[in-house]
Amino acid sequence: MEHPERSFIMIKPDGVQRQLIGEIISRFERRGYKLVAAKLMTPSVQLAKQHYAEHDGKPFFEPLVKFLTSGPVFAMVWEGKDIVATGRKMIGKTKPLDSEPGTIRGDFGIDVGRNLIHGSDSVDSANREIKLWFHAEDLNSWKPVTQGWIY
Ligand code: TYD
Ligand code: MG
Repeated sequence: MEHPERSFIMIKPDGVQRQLIGEIISRFERRGYKLVAAKLMTPSVQLAKQHYAEHDGKPFFEPLVKFLTSGPVFAMVWEGKDIVATGRKMIGKTKPLDSEPGTIRGDFGIDVGRNLIHGSDSVDSANREIKLWFHAEDLNSWKPVTQGWIY
């Protein structure tokens, strides 16, 4: 079935530890995006390595995998027009000095290794990452109710 664009967005262990789940969900909801899947889980080393496979061999790869598997992350799929690119804007740049105030990293982060949140960098990456983290049956597309029972 056709659905709007989707992105894989994940609050990393530091974001969970700092109790920013609600703040971050709220930003995506208020922007107008729809949550279609979410789970709190501690990723395995294998999953973390697959997720960050493009960075395998780089100096920050091993610390990154160690960090991601150190405790629970909050994995989500969000849906809506241009969610991939807009999600990246809302998240801010990778390096803290480049992430503008008003972005999630720019408002809450000061360390590249503890930058709170992941967002897919392209529609292809999103499709790959969503498949990696979620089963198809756990993705819930939904439409606004029009029958008048929302008060
Ligand atoms: P990358 O995919 O380049 O950034 P983004 O999360 O913005 O897509 O890198 C993945 C993660 O690796 C990044 O969020 C934090 C970590 N990282 C470092 O620790 N040091 C670095 O120099 C880089 C580039 C990334
Ligand atoms: Mg990336």
